[in-house]
Amino acid sequence: MLGTMILYHRDLGLSDEGEALVQTIHVYVGYIFAINLFVRLIWAFAGNRFARWDNLIPVGSGYTSKLRNYLNAAREGKHLLYLGHNPLGQLAVFAIIIALLAMIISGLLMAGTDLYMPPFGSYFQNWVAAAGVNPSDVIAHVRDNVDETAFAEMRAFRRPFSTIHVWTYYIIIGLVILHIFAVIYTEVKTGVNLISAMFTGKKVMPGEAEDEDEK
Ligand code: HEM
Repeated sequence: MLGTMILYHRDLGLSDEGEALVQTIHVYVGYIFAINLFVRLIWAFAGNRFARWDNLIPVGSGYTSKLRNYLNAAREGKHLLYLGHNPLGQLAVFAIIIALLAMIISGLLMAGTDLYMPPFGSYFQNWVAAAGVNPSDVIAHVRDNVDETAFAEMRAFRRPFSTIHVWTYYIIIGLVILHIFAVIYTEVKTGVNLISAMFTGKKVMPGEAEDEDEK
């Protein structure tokens, strides 16, 4: 939401101060989001078998045969049941995690280039500070004490990260919409309570699950 406000700040008639405020709040929310994803990735080392890496990363012969089974069954109109992610769900979760990581890396970098905020803020202040200026006196949206050539170089360095941030924003919107439709479709087809299970962590199985005996 905050990102959308930054992207469309002109259409929304946000003043420069308003945009700067939204950017700052966006970065603080971004820090919380980054910590949250980091905790989830740590949990992939420590959590139960459904939280672990091999239930997240769609690679390896085990995954390929699982996917082939799932697609062959679907072609015959059979919808296999899983206690963990079904193979397509595993692929979707992996794609979402990669997209979120791209947002965090590009976002943290732009937090440094645009607002001189941690973790890279002081590095960019040193890069653009004019001769004789204490880098910590370089503040966001003020160009009085920056070296214009260095500043232009820094903005050029920033550009690909901004592009990744905006493009991944649209990809995430697409993944979210796809995710919602896929969950509703799978819940209707299998009768498994996927939506409530996302909150309770408890799936009610109308039959035997493919991964029932997996360790
Ligand atoms: C799913 C997570 C995120 C989404 C959907 C998102 C979305 C956006 C969008 C749409 C923009 C406007 C881009 C532009 O106008 O060029 C933006 C800008 C920005 N984002 Fe994010 N963002 C996310 C995560 C983060 C994180 C984790 C950080 C850093 C901690 C961050 C830092 C920034 C910064 C600094 C800008 C300002 C760029 C400018 O000056 O315009 N973002 N974000």
